[in-house]
Amino acid sequence: MFTTHSLSGDKAEQYAQLSRQAEALVAGEHDRIANAANLSALVYHALPRLNWVGFYFFDGHELVVGPFQGLPACIRIPLDKGVCGAAARSGDTQRVPDVNAFEGHVACDSASRSELVVPLFRNDALVGVFDLDSPDLDRFDVTDQRGLEELARIYVRSLG
Ligand code: SME
Repeated sequence: MFTTHSLSGDKAEQYAQLSRQAEALVAGEHDRIANAANLSALVYHALPRLNWVGFYFFDGHELVVGPFQGLPACIRIPLDKGVCGAAARSGDTQRVPDVNAFEGHVACDSASRSELVVPLFRNDALVGVFDLDSPDLDRFDVTDQRGLEELARIYVRSLG
């Protein structure tokens, strides 16, 4: 059984601890669904002020919802739509302090106020995105971005 330990120290230290928990969780497993499911659950329960954490996978045409924690979500997101599409298209993390001010934001859960989306690339090929939503405005700062990008790297590496 995997036991999570509550995070302590400053935010950077908490992300370092979370990364170590993530590494332990995916160790020896390459299945993209299994690891996405467990990482979504880990992050959703470890970090405060989140209402959705999960993965969208690129099917060669658009983004399709994968494992997540939170309310049921939009199933398919074209690459030219939403914060997720912007991350996938640009290859850059999208940190959006106010989703209502983001042109083309796709509202899945009306509770979401801010969002962070990390694109997932493996050998230069788009795998999908790792998406986090918060009910609070401006929930994600640069430390969150760095920490969550590291978790995304752990996920991509776990795919083998
Ligand atoms: N808000 C996202 C859609 C996915 S949900 O947040 C789960 C977007 O604009 O792409």
